[in-house]
Amino acid sequence: MKGKITEKIMYMLCALCITLTACKNDDAPINTPVKELSEEYYTGGQLGTAFNATPFAYEQPTPAVEASETMMLQFKYGEAFFENDFTTNTTGVRSGLGPVSLRSSCIDCHPGYGHGKRMERYRANDYGNGYLLVVTDENDNYVSQLTGMPQTQAVYPYLPPIDESGIHLEWKNHTDEYGNRFPDGETYSLIYPEVTIDREACNVPMPAFYKVRLEATIGFYGGGLIDAIDDDSIIAQYNREKERGFTLNDAKYLPENYIAEVDGTRHPGRYTYGLSRGTLQNGPGANAIWNITNVTRSDRRKHYITAAYATAMSQNANIQTTLGKTEQEIYNGLMSQDLPAELSDEDYIDFMVWHRGLAVPAARNLDDPTVKRGKEKFYEMGCIACHRPSWTTGADNYSGDPIVQGHLPRYPHQKIWPYSDFLQHRLDMVNNIRTGWCRTTPLWGRGLSETCTGAGDHLHDMRARNYNEAILWHGGDAKTAKEKYRALPKTDRDAVVKFLESI
Ligand code: HEC
Ligand code: HEC
Repeated sequence: MKGKITEKIMYMLCALCITLTACKNDDAPINTPVKELSEEYYTGGQLGTAFNATPFAYEQPTPAVEASETMMLQFKYGEAFFENDFTTNTTGVRSGLGPVSLRSSCIDCHPGYGHGKRMERYRANDYGNGYLLVVTDENDNYVSQLTGMPQTQAVYPYLPPIDESGIHLEWKNHTDEYGNRFPDGETYSLIYPEVTIDREACNVPMPAFYKVRLEATIGFYGGGLIDAIDDDSIIAQYNREKERGFTLNDAKYLPENYIAEVDGTRHPGRYTYGLSRGTLQNGPGANAIWNITNVTRSDRRKHYITAAYATAMSQNANIQTTLGKTEQEIYNGLMSQDLPAELSDEDYIDFMVWHRGLAVPAARNLDDPTVKRGKEKFYEMGCIACHRPSWTTGADNYSGDPIVQGHLPRYPHQKIWPYSDFLQHRLDMVNNIRTGWCRTTPLWGRGLSETCTGAGDHLHDMRARNYNEAILWHGGDAKTAKEKYRALPKTDRDAVVKFLESI
């Protein structure tokens, strides 16, 4: 009890400091606690934690950024590329949107810097829709006529590859093998998405068979700290889990399958559910600023479109007439590999300073007796086999992309608390993610999701409406842990959730 009160006072003091400095210095966050806290509160280590539990908790710069005035300025400029819309203007600030795009800004999918929310329909412009459509063939390979992230928006006279009025999203009820009932009698409900796309809604020729899944966004504060973990540490974790007998996606750890940086160096995957990205600098955000908006830059002087799409558009009579161009001219324009750069290198560096500079919100309430009880159970049940509590970062000497190298904040030798092994598992759920392999989602900061984003949904397609449902969807190598959770008395199950909300 005493601990809880001291902690409350600590947060009140922090809040007071924020209010005081707010008068002097815009909205400068307070990243230094007034009292010494155990290391576990420093979710992002000393250099990467923000003591801020307000609705802006996901948006704070790390102490590493705050230590440099220049970087703070770059952070602010970079932030605008995330928060503000790109336009279809051909020159000026944030110009260059299109000819096709998924959204006109990052924040459209990552509202409140979070991970989107469960939606009842797929419309690019619905607030909080952080879904990507994953369209695959009978072998679960991406349909090659569409981009891996298919667009539903286009600048006139072009048509989007998929017309979203033909996308149908339905939520279905699921009854698990326990009849949706805990041993103590409490019941729950589980739902999952079923998505179809009408063939006529596709403006590219589609294969005879295709199926659709949804992938929701992941929060990305603390991405720089994840980047600072050595590859060797991740490979050691893979070897440990292998020894333990877990079923893992072995192909990902064959060096020839590592992911190449601009300069040819290679790294095992650690970002995205699919582990498709090995560093932050060649990561989902660095790519998204190009392929979500189709805004070109010096090292991406082409559009994110397929040849099938360019062919379909170039043969469209209305487009030919409206643009006054021939089929060949339209095709060549869309497929050009030497378009002018719309985003300057300087702007891109600012964007990456912001991206690598986002702090993790500090943990909260860890001294609360219920939270402590929940933590004890989380460890006992074996959740930590995959949700590995802490890591220590390496020297964090990034090299790989000459444009940003040497310009970014660094996080060497930090003890951080992401609660993930950064490996993939198969949790065997109905209508599962493409291939069934899904990276263990870091749990840090997620307890602030409702505060920061207005939504508290979980799992790769947001099928879980709360922590309880998220745990109940666990199968595969996580089934034993789930069964231990099911067997807990209700007060302990609630304590586990309270712990998850605190980290
Ligand atoms: C169309 C919606 C959409 C937009 C717009 C979008 N994202 Fe994402 N983002 C996603 C989805 C979905 C995922 C998860 C994908 C996966 O794992 O395959 C994701 C994942 C990420 C991740 C990976 C986090 C991790 O832990 O692996 C980062 C970083 C990220 N996005 C940054 C950005 C940035 C920066 C922008 C803007 C330049 C952006 N996103 C725009 C949908 C979006
Ligand atoms: C075998 C590995 C494994 C074990 C053991 C495991 N998890 Fe997970 N967990 C995962 C994976 C993989 C995901 C992502 C699944 C998805 O999104 O489809 C996940 C997702 C979650 C999420 C949702 C995160 C989010 O916001 O989307 C929560 C909460 C969670 N796990 C809690 C637990 C708890 C509590 C336990 C112990 C009872 C546990 N997990 C045991 C692998 C595991």
